[in-house]
Amino acid sequence: MIKVNENYLKIQPSYLFSEIARRVSSFQKENPDVEICRLGIGDVTLPLPRACIDVFHKAVDEMADESTFRGYGPEQGYGFLREKIAREDFQSRGADISPDEIFVSDGAKCDVGNIQEIFASDIKVAIPDPVYPVYLDTNVMAGRAGSFHKGRYDGIVYLDCTGENGYLPDLPKEHAGLIYLCFPNNPTGATITREGLTRWVEYARENKALILYDAAYEAFIGDKDLPRSIYEIDDAREVAIEFRSYSKTAGFTGVRCAYTVVPKECRAYTERNEKQLLHGLWNRRQSTKTNGVSYPVQRAAEAVYCQEGKAQVRELIAYYMRNADLIRKEMTGLGFDCTGGENSPYIWVDVREDSWAMFDTLLRKGGVVCTPGAGFGRCGEGHIRISAFNSFQNVQKALKRIRDLFTPGAKTQARRE
Ligand code: MLT
Repeated sequence: MIKVNENYLKIQPSYLFSEIARRVSSFQKENPDVEICRLGIGDVTLPLPRACIDVFHKAVDEMADESTFRGYGPEQGYGFLREKIAREDFQSRGADISPDEIFVSDGAKCDVGNIQEIFASDIKVAIPDPVYPVYLDTNVMAGRAGSFHKGRYDGIVYLDCTGENGYLPDLPKEHAGLIYLCFPNNPTGATITREGLTRWVEYARENKALILYDAAYEAFIGDKDLPRSIYEIDDAREVAIEFRSYSKTAGFTGVRCAYTVVPKECRAYTERNEKQLLHGLWNRRQSTKTNGVSYPVQRAAEAVYCQEGKAQVRELIAYYMRNADLIRKEMTGLGFDCTGGENSPYIWVDVREDSWAMFDTLLRKGGVVCTPGAGFGRCGEGHIRISAFNSFQNVQKALKRIRDLFTPGAKTQARRE
């Protein structure tokens, strides 16, 4: 008899963003004339930077010529890209990371989902609530969670992020071996200071724990005092793995390119309490299970670091941040408390009512898609997340419809333009 992995029976039957897509598509079928404004999933709408496109084309042409054609590349990524990453993303900010500590991949989502494979199945995992659902779901799939009741799994250490603590997780009250942190945060848009992050690094060192640091949104940090990498914090190399992505930074959501940093000193422990370095384990996992990212895509990612590429990426970020600023101001003006939207493309809005109900109201009465906070965890209830990834015109349109819905006496003809 073939048996299933019953851990899969414990998770919600549908992934959050698939469920939202399903609801939106069924609404669109019933209402084909409604022009929907999508501020739900954080998917970019602007095209790739010109500098990336140019080298992308050139690299495809190289594949058409026998003398420049390339077959399998290094599973860890090509040296040309890893060298640029180390220099531009880390060394230039005083973080001591070398090219061979970088593992290029087809997405931060895959990496944050896969990384838990190199840890024991009986470790305690600390996960903020609300949280990007991939961290929790992949640990449930791997058997690190017990049964689910009242919106929570037994066996997981939840770190509540609420208005009271500024949506910043406090250090765990019970011991946790593996800790997920994401800054700027998805979904709340909250950021962490150098001092705040130092406390986490110290916690991990004192408690023999490890931090998985998701920095997929670091490019949106405008405040020069905020850390963009955990390796800007002293002594983090031993206790942290960091994830980065070109998806939101340079518009690669459809192209797929990201990377993970595993410093050589980064460690966990064996059953017998012996130190075990993780770099070799992740290298073993990646070289067994993936052949990496295509050559043209890595060339396109490399172009992010040339002078024009850097300038074009800055423009993309500035464009979305103008949206974020507008969303935050408008929602605040309507009387909602908001976090994020300042060093982050997400605005976390305290709507003080059932978040799926609010999602339905915005969709059905306004034709606007947001993400219901409850989809990110129990502490997300009462909130919605609005994404700044859309055209400025669509953001303005969506905000006008929301204003019409929430301004007493305003006309509620919001959906059909
Ligand atoms: C989000 O909307 O949270 C992200 O786009 C999801 C992702 O990056 O996988």
